[in-house]
Amino acid sequence: MRSVVLASLLVSSLAACGGGGAAKPTEPPKATKWRDMNADQRIAYMKEVVLPESKKIFVAFDAKKFENMDCKTCHGDGAENGSFEMPDAKIHPLPNSEEAFMAWAQKEPEVGKWAQFMSGEVEPLMARLLDETVFDPKTKTGEFGCTACHTLVDAEGKPVPLPPKDHDHDHHDAK
Ligand code: HEC
Ligand code: HEC
Repeated sequence: MRSVVLASLLVSSLAACGGGGAAKPTEPPKATKWRDMNADQRIAYMKEVVLPESKKIFVAFDAKKFENMDCKTCHGDGAENGSFEMPDAKIHPLPNSEEAFMAWAQKEPEVGKWAQFMSGEVEPLMARLLDETVFDPKTKTGEFGCTACHTLVDAEGKPVPLPPKDHDHDHHDAK
């Protein structure tokens, strides 16, 4: 009995070696997509790809403000406590209605320029790096939008919950 088990183990391990001995081409492992990465892979990907790639466009936009850009620039408190949860309220929260947004932009003339940089460059770059589609406010389709990084506030500046995301990794329960 024992030897039968042994023999079948041997055979199956031989099979696992590739049978006829044809050398397998040494392909590099397929790049893992963001959504399939584990925690360690995500940290490494952020460090090696997301931070350097995003820093390029942020520095081109405002060299002085972003010369020391790091994880905290996008993660705020999450970079300090290690949760890296997004969005983070340390990033300037955005008004949750078009009227409130326009009122803000009228008060602070820089806001329009920022919003243009955000939708024109930051969103498309990040969506590409994370393998997601850009949210389109007109059709309400797409996965990656402003609220991946920014929390929302109402007209009085009070935090409001984000609309649910269909690809939420964490399945946070609404509280
Ligand atoms: C340009 C902004 C930006 C920078 C800079 C950045 N991140 Fe992120 N990071 C994000 C966004 C956006 C997400 C959420 C992605 C998603 O929706 O899944 C994220 C997610 C993560 C996650 C996954 C969290 C989770 O809940 O799974 C980790 C870990 C992380 N970042 C680590 C880092 C580290 C470490 C650095 C610095 C080396 C860094 N990030 C720099 C934008 C950024
Ligand atoms: C990958 C993360 C990320 C995404 C996505 C993103 N932003 Fe930002 N945004 C930032 C960071 C980082 C800053 C600079 C830090 C800050 O202002 O708190 C910023 C700053 C801003 C500011 C300037 C705020 C101020 O301080 O006056 C505006 C306005 C803005 N974003 C609007 C948007 C809009 C609108 C979208 C969607 C079209 C968007 N952002 C998408 C990360 C992001």
